[in-house]
Amino acid sequence: MDGQSTLLILGATSDIARAVAHRYASEGWNIILAGRNIEIIDRDAEDMRVRYKVDVKVARFEALDFDSHRSFWLQLGEKPDGVLFAIGYLGDQEECQSEWSQSRVVLDTNFTSAVSILNIIARDFENSGKGFIIGISSVAGDRGRMSNYIYGSAKAGFSAYLSGLRNRLSRKGVQVMTVKPGFVATRMTEGKGLPASVTASPQQVADDIFRAQRRGKPVLYTRWFWKPIMLIIIHLPERIFMKRNL
Ligand SMILES: NC(=O)c1ccc[n+]([C@@H]2O[C@H](COP(=O)([O-])OP(=O)(O)OC[C@H]3O[C@@H](n4cnc5c(N)ncnc54)[C@H](OP(=O)(O)O)[C@@H]3O)[C@@H](O)[C@H]2O)c1
Repeated sequence: MDGQSTLLILGATSDIARAVAHRYASEGWNIILAGRNIEIIDRDAEDMRVRYKVDVKVARFEALDFDSHRSFWLQLGEKPDGVLFAIGYLGDQEECQSEWSQSRVVLDTNFTSAVSILNIIARDFENSGKGFIIGISSVAGDRGRMSNYIYGSAKAGFSAYLSGLRNRLSRKGVQVMTVKPGFVATRMTEGKGLPASVTASPQQVADDIFRAQRRGKPVLYTRWFWKPIMLIIIHLPERIFMKRNL
């Protein structure tokens, strides 16, 4: 239990984010749910207030409206103790290859928007010498694959951004954690036929995130077995990697 601590969730309708919100609220955290689908978020907020008897606020956040990010942060008033950036968009790889506008939405949703809002939040946390930032990146950012390299390259950029941010802020008392999920059964992966044996539930991922954040872990692979899997994938020689249909 962390007294009256508050967690801000960006991308509150994400299945993973919802599970994280429940995990923190069940430990007595107040929550600010932010996203673009206010109707759904309002319903979730009411449910959580009843269930956990914590304060749950709702705020509108549109990731692609970069000009609104500063005023979004300012209008929150009292600042949260921690932030989860869970926004993401897989898109369609083939469409991305033929339509720049599609690539742009994928790159901006997964990378540019995160840089825009987290730059603002990081500066505030740095000045106050406390806080934590959790960014949900992906194992897809560890090595580009033909099946999703536009999404993967945005996530690679996000992972590098979080690494640099951690390097800068760790000495200022601010924790930055990179989360790299493998397969998770959510709206994003619905109908993709993911192998059940290596696919986590949002609740499993949320438990991993909660535990790792409380322990101060810098980089989290979730589930744990994605770390050795990615270690092998990263080190496959390019000549072998090139020939695989990944
Ligand atoms: N599922 C997986 O296997 C997997 C694996 C690795 C990493 N991840 C990452 O995990 C994070 C959570 O994803 P998820 O699996 O929980 O998928 P999800 O349920 O599809 O969540 C995606 C979230 O992003 C939000 N979003 C997209 N574009 C937005 C915009 N322009 N402005 C504001 N919000 C926007 C969505 O809001 P709306 O409801 O309004 O669309 C939703 O809240 C993402 O960063 C994803 O890339 C997922």
